[in-house]
Amino acid sequence: MQISGSFLTFSLFLAFILISRASSAHNKNDFLECLNLQFQKSNSESDSIYTPQNASYSSVLQSTIRNLRPASNSGQRPFVIITPEHESQIQAAIYCSKKYGIQLKVRSGGHDYEGLSYISQTPFFIVDMRNLRSISIDTEKNTAWVQTGATLGELYYTIAEKSKTLAFTAGVCPTVGVGGHFSGGGYGMMSRKHGIAADHIIDAKLIDANGQIHDRESMGEDLFWAIRGGGGTSFGIVLSFKVKLIVIPETVTVFNVTRTLDQNATQIVHRWQYVAHKIDENLLLRLFLRSINSSNGKRTIRASFTSLYLGPVDDLLPIMQEKFPELGLVKEDCTEMPWIESTVFFAGFRGQSLDVLLNRTQVFVYFKGKSDYVKQPIPEYGLKSIWKFLNEDDVYRAELQFSPYGGIIDDIPESEIPFPHRSGNIFMIHYIVGWSEEENAYSQRHINWIRRLYSFMARYVSKSPREAYFNYRDLDIGMNKIEGNTSYKQASVWGFKYFNNNFRRLVHIKNKVDPTNFFRNEQSIPPVSLW
Ligand code: FDA
Repeated sequence: MQISGSFLTFSLFLAFILISRASSAHNKNDFLECLNLQFQKSNSESDSIYTPQNASYSSVLQSTIRNLRPASNSGQRPFVIITPEHESQIQAAIYCSKKYGIQLKVRSGGHDYEGLSYISQTPFFIVDMRNLRSISIDTEKNTAWVQTGATLGELYYTIAEKSKTLAFTAGVCPTVGVGGHFSGGGYGMMSRKHGIAADHIIDAKLIDANGQIHDRESMGEDLFWAIRGGGGTSFGIVLSFKVKLIVIPETVTVFNVTRTLDQNATQIVHRWQYVAHKIDENLLLRLFLRSINSSNGKRTIRASFTSLYLGPVDDLLPIMQEKFPELGLVKEDCTEMPWIESTVFFAGFRGQSLDVLLNRTQVFVYFKGKSDYVKQPIPEYGLKSIWKFLNEDDVYRAELQFSPYGGIIDDIPESEIPFPHRSGNIFMIHYIVGWSEEENAYSQRHINWIRRLYSFMARYVSKSPREAYFNYRDLDIGMNKIEGNTSYKQASVWGFKYFNNNFRRLVHIKNKVDPTNFFRNEQSIPPVSLW
């Protein structure tokens, strides 16, 4: 009997697939056995291990997923989720993961824009930090130790319980996790006065690829530099950060003033670009731009100036009158409150009790986000072109957020920590488009819209590299090969955008601390020696 070459090749291919599937299933079983054994050895309960057979598996998996888009695409689900109560369980997970070659992903708040903490193209398991969330505050030294499974809301709430004049500078959404947020930067309403979250990290506890636990001293200054903004995942699992708290006045002032096109929004937004990064650094004037239906039924642009001033309204008004009279701010627009209430205000829960900061229940949405840095004001005709994008049919849940830089951000050298976006930036643009579950069948339409807008904006934003904010992760700007060795060349495509020249130092450090690339994902630092 004659067997054709192509039939033979096909049979071999089929056999290869079947063998690799069988060995992959085998590895998964061995991995689980290993995990149970290691947990027993360290007297840990195995009820913090969830497999798809477990009734709570789906709710544990979904509970912190903020963006449903990545999960609704092709990625695999984890075949195990571990919710450690003790660091020895993470060490056990690392040991078994290395032994059986199963990829580990770590998740803190689950807010990754591309879902890299909970989906993957290859078989993987999740170490979910939700139970490691203790926070201890030292009001004498103005410091806090915060475990990475805590949320920003829990951190803010706990600080405010202890003091009226201490606070922390980090993001706006209370359900964002400390683990991912601090690892990638952490911009918030006090960043012009106090910088970003990562600027305030003074110590950390980290488990490395060998399962060793380090503090700042034992990890060394290079690794300690890398974990303050060099992105989650690449260097180890951060168990906790020690941060320096900031001192704030007992009263702050907030306002949210909106202007539409017939109220001169275009001219005011244009003027904002000359003012917001230079104005008193106690004031952060954030700008949110959306298309809305006006009273005459036509679409218009609504510019919302959402702002925090670290001080009383009577100090704020003269500053606004002198530097930004075009907005026409009056006392009635402003509300004085303690800082902790302002965190509730900016999270969109105005008037609700502070307990809302502890609520971990997620609002699930489908969205795609992107970011840019602006170094020269966008001319009025450029703004009008942006309005056209926002006013397109079908675009109802899109928003552009303009977050001003300047202030102390300008004074910190670019190489101080890996987060490089310092002097010379007027503001960051955050583009976001969302859609409902019913619309998900047409998600590509929305994704194409944001990609078109991003492409149009190239003329107005930073170049060579076109900078982007790591915490608004965007796989469109480049990604590592999913399997096999990560190439430096490939990673450079996205790496220089997020980290500018700090990318080279991050690669060098990765090469020293994790040369086998144990901690990896689609945008993790590659361990390639440059020297
Ligand atoms: P998640 O758990 O998904 O982790 C993100 C990445 O870090 C993943 O790669 C993960 O593996 C890794 N990681 C997580 N924990 C780790 C650990 N312990 N050790 C090592 N690696 C770890 N940003 C901002 O600067 N200002 C803001 O105001 C906001 N607001 C905001 C609102 C909303 C609704 C969303 C969805 C996001 C933001 N962000 C933001 C962006 C946010 O800072 C970013 O998505 C963070 O990475 C989220 O951190 P999580 O721990 O929640 O995510």
